[in-house]
Amino acid sequence: MGRFIGFILFLCGLLLLVHPTVSLPLCSDSTAPSTLNSTLEFCPYKGSVCCNSTQDGDIQRQFQGMNISDPACSSLVKSIVCARCDPFSGDLYIVNSTPRSVPLLCNSTSENSPQSNQAATDFCSTVWDTCQNITIVNSPFAPSLQGRAGVPTNSSTSKLSDLWLSKTDFCNAFGGSSTEESVCFVGEPVSLNNTKLPSPPDGLCLEKIGNGSYLNMVAHPDGSNRAFFSNQAGKVWLATIPEMGSGGMLELDESKPFVDLTDVVNLDTQFGMMGLAFHPNFAQNGRFFASFNCDKVKWPGCSGRCSCNSDVNCDPSKLPSDSGSQPCQHQSVVAEYTVNGSASQPSLATTAKPTEVRRIITIGLPFTSRHAGQILFGEDGYLYFMMGDGGGQGGDPYNFSQNKKSLLGKIMRLDINNIPSSEDINKLDLWGNYSIPKDNPFVEDQSALPEIWAYGLRNPWRCSFDSERPSYFMCGDVGQDRFEEVNIISKGGNYGWSVYEGPLLFVPNSSPKESTPIDSINPIFPVMGYNHSTINKNTGSASITGGYFYRSNTDPCLYGRYLYADLYASAIWAGTETPKNSGNFTTNDIPFSCAPDSPIPCSSTPGSPLPALGYVFSFGEDNDKDIYVLTSSGVYRFVPPSRCKYTCSLENVTTTVGSLSPTPSPPSHASRSTNSWSSLVLLLLLLFTCS
Ligand SMILES: *[C@@H]1O[C@H](CO)[C@@H](O)[C@H](O)[C@H]1NC(C)=O
Ligand SMILES: *[C@@H]1O[C@H](CO)[C@@H](O)[C@H](O)[C@H]1NC(C)=O
Ligand SMILES: *[C@@H]1O[C@H](CO)[C@@H](O)[C@H](O)[C@H]1NC(C)=O
Ligand SMILES: *[C@@H]1O[C@H](CO)[C@@H](O)[C@H](O)[C@H]1NC(C)=O
Ligand SMILES: *[C@@H]1O[C@H](CO)[C@@H](O)[C@H](O)[C@H]1NC(C)=O
Ligand SMILES: *[C@@H]1O[C@H](CO)[C@@H](O)[C@H](O)[C@H]1NC(C)=O
Ligand SMILES: *[C@@H]1O[C@H](CO)[C@@H](O)[C@H](O)[C@H]1NC(C)=O
Ligand SMILES: *[C@@H]1O[C@H](CO)[C@@H](O)[C@H](O)[C@H]1NC(C)=O
Ligand SMILES: *[C@@H]1O[C@H](CO)[C@@H](O)[C@H](O)[C@H]1NC(C)=O
Ligand SMILES: *[C@@H]1O[C@H](CO)[C@@H](O)[C@H](O)[C@H]1NC(C)=O
Ligand SMILES: *[C@@H]1O[C@H](CO)[C@@H](O)[C@H](O)[C@H]1NC(C)=O
Ligand SMILES: *[C@@H]1O[C@H](CO)[C@@H](O)[C@H](O)[C@H]1NC(C)=O
Repeated sequence: MGRFIGFILFLCGLLLLVHPTVSLPLCSDSTAPSTLNSTLEFCPYKGSVCCNSTQDGDIQRQFQGMNISDPACSSLVKSIVCARCDPFSGDLYIVNSTPRSVPLLCNSTSENSPQSNQAATDFCSTVWDTCQNITIVNSPFAPSLQGRAGVPTNSSTSKLSDLWLSKTDFCNAFGGSSTEESVCFVGEPVSLNNTKLPSPPDGLCLEKIGNGSYLNMVAHPDGSNRAFFSNQAGKVWLATIPEMGSGGMLELDESKPFVDLTDVVNLDTQFGMMGLAFHPNFAQNGRFFASFNCDKVKWPGCSGRCSCNSDVNCDPSKLPSDSGSQPCQHQSVVAEYTVNGSASQPSLATTAKPTEVRRIITIGLPFTSRHAGQILFGEDGYLYFMMGDGGGQGGDPYNFSQNKKSLLGKIMRLDINNIPSSEDINKLDLWGNYSIPKDNPFVEDQSALPEIWAYGLRNPWRCSFDSERPSYFMCGDVGQDRFEEVNIISKGGNYGWSVYEGPLLFVPNSSPKESTPIDSINPIFPVMGYNHSTINKNTGSASITGGYFYRSNTDPCLYGRYLYADLYASAIWAGTETPKNSGNFTTNDIPFSCAPDSPIPCSSTPGSPLPALGYVFSFGEDNDKDIYVLTSSGVYRFVPPSRCKYTCSLENVTTTVGSLSPTPSPPSHASRSTNSWSSLVLLLLLLFTCS
């Protein structure tokens, strides 16, 4: 009994977590399902599952304790308690952010149900009809467990008809139908309709609207047609974005940055300003954040704990001398700034002082490469901070990525709204001024740092949240020798590095190292990616640049697909998910070209060594959900495909498009672009070099 109560508490613990509408295979504790070779002993699940053998055994004991005599009812109830193991259990057990004791039981058929096994099933009625007169010990259908008023009972043994007045009452409490975004339970594992894969877009049409070379673009949080752009050196500009189809260019005055942090940012081959984020309530509180690298030797403000330390078996005095004149000479910093004082209200601010309000975090770097550095606010209001494995020869030589005592090779999740006192920061042994969200995955784990949200990453270069489905937290992760990957980041997920490189076992080509035992980890494999061998046969270089789920109507043939690119190859891929919400992607390398009427011509120089577009550093998304490509040659925006004479049957092509030139040139695979790449680009050339 004690064990059973423990189990219930364990479930309740999981269920306390608030969860957005889920639409991806996720467990009720927000973690990704794991992969199981064989069927569980008790519950009929295998493959992608949300239970391990321990939990399967707990469910079996819970079920046996119910002592259900009737075989028909018994089998239905078994299927219901086993739904915990369903890969969609997060969706089944948390409906409208409210946790449930029983999965959502399908009570009707819905015309546009995404589920293949839901047709004509009123499973809720079936449960009532079959079980209403059957005694169940510790019934999971008790009203109190569902947070509902039913028939009051003080007995632990009850029939449904003791607990609920009627089928209608019962099904009001437990029933529901699946919708576009959610699933319901019919007594067997959730299965999605295998819809036909839509054909890939004919091509992507781009226009060039700016000449500058930027690493970050962040839409203004006030929802206006403005966005912030930052470069590697540490300058941020506030630009007005031209209306789609207006023929205008980015309005940005290079000589008038919004803020200039170049005095503190250390600019070098692989160092600089890597990330920029605005507080979701920036329009009220004026808070914004920059992520950059600094150099202790050049700036006294550059001080913090060294990520090479005794906790992680790293002796700073043994680091190679080319990593700096002193251990952890270079640091990754996230610092907070404000526009208070520069305008009457934050949205009107066009400049900010480069005065640091608060240091959020400082992490001393062991080597000079692979420290990612993007920062992003999630819908949950927390700040996500992407960190690479810290570099070094032979692929993560100190095993930082798999070591949960290290912040390297991790995605961190920090609460920057509740800043503890310095006393508490010391007591909690934090690396800076933030608090730990209660539901971070490793808060209870003494062998892990509580900042960690996900681990096993190499160099997460450009992550984004799907604006329609926040559980789709996408990251490109740059590979080493063979594979570039796109991951869906989930709570506590291990993305495999450096045991795996993408789906492949990683075998370092330098001195063979005894790596983390393969069987000891349960990695989450990428959902998209490409082999190095498929691109850039000339140079062999490859480095992924993660992008966005396209959610604009500008190119309706792109809607709902995930876009990503390669830094060197100027190839752009679109990932299409079928069935929708399954996490199963098919990818296509999509041809692209520049609109003949592009506001800035995408000029080309025959024989230029630069790939088309230059180097693709990053993507951006504006407040209209239009998508931008930030490259060494400038800023490009996706425009209606017809402007490049690509056919998209979903596009409404009007014959009189003012800005369309009378004789558009036929689309080429890509317009070669040349001129205005800055010298910084040369530095950046090596930024992501893979081996
Ligand atoms: C899982 O499956 C793989 C191949 O599919 C096999 O090599 C491995 O032995 C299996 N593991 C277990 C624990 O059954
Ligand atoms: C099963 O999962 C639970 C909860 O995540 C964990 O505490 C337990 O150690 C796991 N058991 C096994 C055998 O992996
Ligand atoms: C289980 O049910 C049977 C009758 O169906 C009863 O005899 C037995 O005592 C019950 N066991 C428990 C533990 O309630
Ligand atoms: C899903 O499949 C069911 C039956 O297999 C069908 O009735 C339903 O229309 C399908 N839904 C969609 C969105 O295709
Ligand atoms: C359950 O009991 C109700 C009322 O006593 C009766 O109408 C119904 O037929 C019974 N159902 C089953 C499945 O025995
Ligand atoms: C439930 O509680 C009521 C009043 O508190 C009592 O009269 C009744 O006997 C109890 N029933 C059981 C099954 O314990
Ligand atoms: C199914 O359950 C939902 C939620 O309680 C309710 O709103 C809906 O009316 C039910 N549909 C049917 C057909 O019972
Ligand atoms: C994944 O998508 C492909 C292409 O549409 C399809 O053939 C395959 O069945 C899907 N796999 C799953 C598990 O749904
Ligand atoms: C961008 O560069 C092109 C070609 O050098 C030049 O014609 C154009 O005026 C520049 N545009 C801006 C906005 O700087
Ligand atoms: C800026 O102003 C807002 C609104 O008055 C206030 O909430 C915030 O604390 C201020 N921030 C700083 C850093 O002064
Ligand atoms: C990396 O991990 C492996 C296995 O866990 C270990 O043998 C090796 O010594 C580690 N390397 C370092 C530098 O700690
Ligand atoms: C195209 O036109 C149809 C009918 O006028 C409209 O419903 C649809 O929203 C339009 N699509 C786009 C992408 O503008």
